[in-house]
Amino acid sequence: MRRTPAILVLLVAGCRMAAGDYAAKPYVVNPKPDGMTIAWATVNETRGFVDYGPTPAYGRRATVQRVDETNLRQYDLEHAFIHKVRLRGLNPDTKYYYRVHGPELPAYENHFCTAPVRHDRTVCFMIGGDRNNAWPEDDDVAFVEDTAGTRVEFFVDVGDFAVCRRFRRGWQGRVPVVLARGNHDNEVRKENADPKQVQHVYDFDDDKLDFTVAWGPVLLVVNGGDQIYKPVSRRAVDWLESVLASAAQPWKIVACHGVFFSDGLHAKEGPPRRRQIWPVFHRFGVPLVLTGHDHIYSRTTRIDVDGRPVPDGPCNLCFGGILVEYSRDVPSPWMAYQFRGPEVRGGIAFAVVEGQSAQIKLYTRKRGKDYELQDQFELTLGK
Ligand SMILES: [Fe+2]
Repeated sequence: MRRTPAILVLLVAGCRMAAGDYAAKPYVVNPKPDGMTIAWATVNETRGFVDYGPTPAYGRRATVQRVDETNLRQYDLEHAFIHKVRLRGLNPDTKYYYRVHGPELPAYENHFCTAPVRHDRTVCFMIGGDRNNAWPEDDDVAFVEDTAGTRVEFFVDVGDFAVCRRFRRGWQGRVPVVLARGNHDNEVRKENADPKQVQHVYDFDDDKLDFTVAWGPVLLVVNGGDQIYKPVSRRAVDWLESVLASAAQPWKIVACHGVFFSDGLHAKEGPPRRRQIWPVFHRFGVPLVLTGHDHIYSRTTRIDVDGRPVPDGPCNLCFGGILVEYSRDVPSPWMAYQFRGPEVRGGIAFAVVEGQSAQIKLYTRKRGKDYELQDQFELTLGK
């Protein structure tokens, strides 16, 4: 653990916030059927505990196992301490109540649910990424749960956490977030002064860039090592082929930052990478590829590597923020939907997977206004 002298921390950052406040209140990451990480940020290193259990009486206690000092300059936190507690030995598909507390910390209570193992489960998950759309808030989750009629189980962030603006405004502490790292997340830039920032915040196993999240009938294949400005490495293609070939889950869904098919004006990296990797998705029956980076929302039909419609091809959903100025007037033939305005600065998408079908919807929300449905479509396995 790297430490900064306490007096410097107090001078630089502590003046903005009383000791004991959360700079980012507790949140949940790295979900597994038998484990979950509870994390929170403060401006000073603090002692902390997590009481947890299957009832509000908790029953078990874990202490902070890791504290990472990091720089979250984009949130006015030149020095932040990310505290992490890994809860292990949990039961799958089970609700756990938890309470974070400590001598210098106000108590925080919430609950989370572990990943299911059974494949005959309905699963609802949210999708976001880039700028204003990363990190779900309480009201977004509540809206999706009302609309879908089922609980939101996890959130897929398609990357560039380092430029999103929501971390300190309040990430809800119930739905675990899975990040496919973006170009800003892997680079040292003004927004991301610490190249290890996302590892500190998200608690990836062994700092892995590529990993899978098994959630009932869904296998989320996260290709966070995808370098959008370069061809995909042979190692990454081999890894994708091996996990897709061995997947037992019927819904193999890929998440990565770099877009393969988009009409946006921001991304220009799609075609070379598309040639390498889209046929792999197609061959292994991936119905949905979630991407970001291009600062629009767009969605293709089910297509092959040349953009021709094929019934068993993948659909490329790009959720790289919703900024109308990045969209192009004349859509490509393979584009099924592209958000064209009116101007909004945020949106939420979610999928409900049930049996052989998945329903996906996009809503936008103007500040202070109701959510508006912009896009909805259905994917069916095997065709
Ligand atoms: Fe990006």
